[in-house]
Amino acid sequence: MTPSTRATAGQETVAALRARLARLEREAAARERQLEAYAADLREVFKQERARAQELRRSYKATVLALANAVEARDAYTGRHAQRVAAYGLRIGHAAGVAVDAQVEFGFLLHDVGKVAVPDAILFKPGPLTGEEYALMSAHPTIGWEILRHVDFLDDAKTVVRHHHERWDGTGYPDGLAGEAIPLHARVFALADALDALTTDRPYRGAVSWAAARETIREAAGTQFDPAIVAAYDTIPDEAFARIREGIA
Ligand SMILES: [Fe+2]
Repeated sequence: MTPSTRATAGQETVAALRARLARLEREAAARERQLEAYAADLREVFKQERARAQELRRSYKATVLALANAVEARDAYTGRHAQRVAAYGLRIGHAAGVAVDAQVEFGFLLHDVGKVAVPDAILFKPGPLTGEEYALMSAHPTIGWEILRHVDFLDDAKTVVRHHHERWDGTGYPDGLAGEAIPLHARVFALADALDALTTDRPYRGAVSWAAARETIREAAGTQFDPAIVAAYDTIPDEAFARIREGIA
């Protein structure tokens, strides 16, 4: 091979290498564009999924609220009781370091759904209940639990519905659970429920002040309520509850 043919061969090799490099670069750029397109598609799918999940959550909440309102529509005294106690429960749960997710909140809203089975004459009786009437009234947590039994998305909610009248000392109903055997969310809720019951008018008595309600609740720490939940509630000022109530009225 003469020097000139060697130089030509060298130039051809360089040209071939450059061409290969350019082709590789083009291929790499094409792959990158393709990956970006995939990523954009994935982002879009994810966005749509999130929107669908949000829509589903909104539908669930609207359904639960409709059911809770249907129960309350019978009772002029407890108007918006479910929404107030749900909000109080969220606030107390937060103070106690207890996570309250959507399912639990649904349980707060639906706690008295079993009252649909309690006749008006018993539900609105201003005087004391007879033994039989009391038995029917105190069946409402179990009836509520039965009503929601087969609704999968209300699993944690059912626990609150069933156990919201248990007492820390074990004298509550329907299962007479005591102390930490009572599901935590039901313990949080029991306090929220009592707070609203005390601070609103009832057929048999008028509302008491926030301060008087606090005294009553403190006195019931260790008997009706979990002392730790009462302590968490005690870190929340009365004004916070008053604001929540105004926001819902
Ligand atoms: Fe109840």
